[in-house]
Amino acid sequence: MEEQRAHWSSSTGFVLAATGSAIGLGNLWKFPFITWENNGGAFVLVYLLCIAAVGLPIMMAELLIGRKTQKSVVGALKEAVGPAWGIVGLWGVLCGFILLSYYTVIAGWSLFYFTQTAGWTLGGVPEGLAIGDLFGQQVANSPLQFGLSLLFSVATVSVVYFGVQRGIERIARLFLPVLFGILVLLLVSALGMSGSGEALAFIFRPSFSELEPEGVLEALGHSFFTLSLGMGAMVTYGSYISRSQSIVKASAMIVLLDTVIALIASIIMFSVIFSVAGMAEQVGGSTVGMLFISLPELFYNEVPFGTVLGPLFYVLVALAALTSTMSLLEVVTSYVIDEHGVQRQIATIACGATVFIFTIFAAISFGNVPFFSTLALFDGKTGWFETADHFVSNWMLPTGGLAVTLAAGWFMTRQSTESELVDGTEPRWFRYGAWRLFIRFVAPLAVTAIIVAVFFFGADFS
Ligand code: TRP
Repeated sequence: MEEQRAHWSSSTGFVLAATGSAIGLGNLWKFPFITWENNGGAFVLVYLLCIAAVGLPIMMAELLIGRKTQKSVVGALKEAVGPAWGIVGLWGVLCGFILLSYYTVIAGWSLFYFTQTAGWTLGGVPEGLAIGDLFGQQVANSPLQFGLSLLFSVATVSVVYFGVQRGIERIARLFLPVLFGILVLLLVSALGMSGSGEALAFIFRPSFSELEPEGVLEALGHSFFTLSLGMGAMVTYGSYISRSQSIVKASAMIVLLDTVIALIASIIMFSVIFSVAGMAEQVGGSTVGMLFISLPELFYNEVPFGTVLGPLFYVLVALAALTSTMSLLEVVTSYVIDEHGVQRQIATIACGATVFIFTIFAAISFGNVPFFSTLALFDGKTGWFETADHFVSNWMLPTGGLAVTLAAGWFMTRQSTESELVDGTEPRWFRYGAWRLFIRFVAPLAVTAIIVAVFFFGADFS
């Protein structure tokens, strides 16, 4: 007898799990940085537009393909569109695999900073320690990187091991409220700082003369990454939704929460940065700079209650990362379970261990390791880590996203998508015709623009 497929225990459980997947390093690490690079205001507005016009329709498309077929990404695309589409599903699994392999390394850094900051809070910052230099030292320390990412991988595997309800959903239910709570604490503290007004103006006052055309594409590319789209994660999570839940309402909620959190994270970071004289000029240069170089120092020297908020902040980063890594591993694991009939526990451990081999490659990328720290496949990207990030963000997610829009908009029948989205549970504002217009025309055209920019003009969104 075939075993019954696992389902989320409730609509809230599902929304929390999917929101947990969406909220991650993309919100805390990437978004504030690219907003900074692109001069705020206008970029944020364009980003919001991309989220609404491209991200939201694709979110609905992925979830509906999952719910309709009740299969993980490979099986789902095969069933919903046709056998040849299994390849697209495999592309998604591969993407999840690679993304997980280096995402875990960054997650490991948050563990390192948590232990460091907690140590400083309890025992004081060691005399003469240059906090800003710490990042370069820890990242070049390959044994340390190995240990940190191993720890994080074990945590991820331990969650996915217990399955959809007892693993993923339970951790999301437990951690997301904690994450929101920490974020609110940080926000309150940040708003009390002298730079908060300037930060809010920077984020919310658009000045279009400061936005470059590449910024538009960067906003679009990031909307894929931050919503966990373009690689079947939402197809997989959608396959555990029961028929009675509304895809439209859930999608809107997930997208809204993800966006709000990204904005709050930016308000927090920019308030701190604008409050310190000369800091605004120093920040930048690298994506990691803000989160792991500027902020730790500021927590200990500038932020009110920073000695408590500092460690809490890194707990926040670690929790956000974990709710994302578990969904990445779930994409790979559920493929092995569904398509190869492997038992969940065995599949989880096998997939986790295989991914970890590649995590090691990413973890040692910043040390002095031949090949892994010198690999130069793409212009300006050195080492395994940067190469993987570049490949996923620029090539894999946009092509995967385009495939989803084509599948849902052009290859599936109108009737089959309409019956999933319009089922009496959808909210009143929803118009099927509008969704169809976006998924058939707006989204594919926008994504094609990214692909053209990457292929022909060497654009870089990683
Ligand atoms: N959305 C995650 C973030 O913002 C990153 C991510 C991209 C992801 N694709 C994913 C997470 C797929 C889980 C599954 O950090």
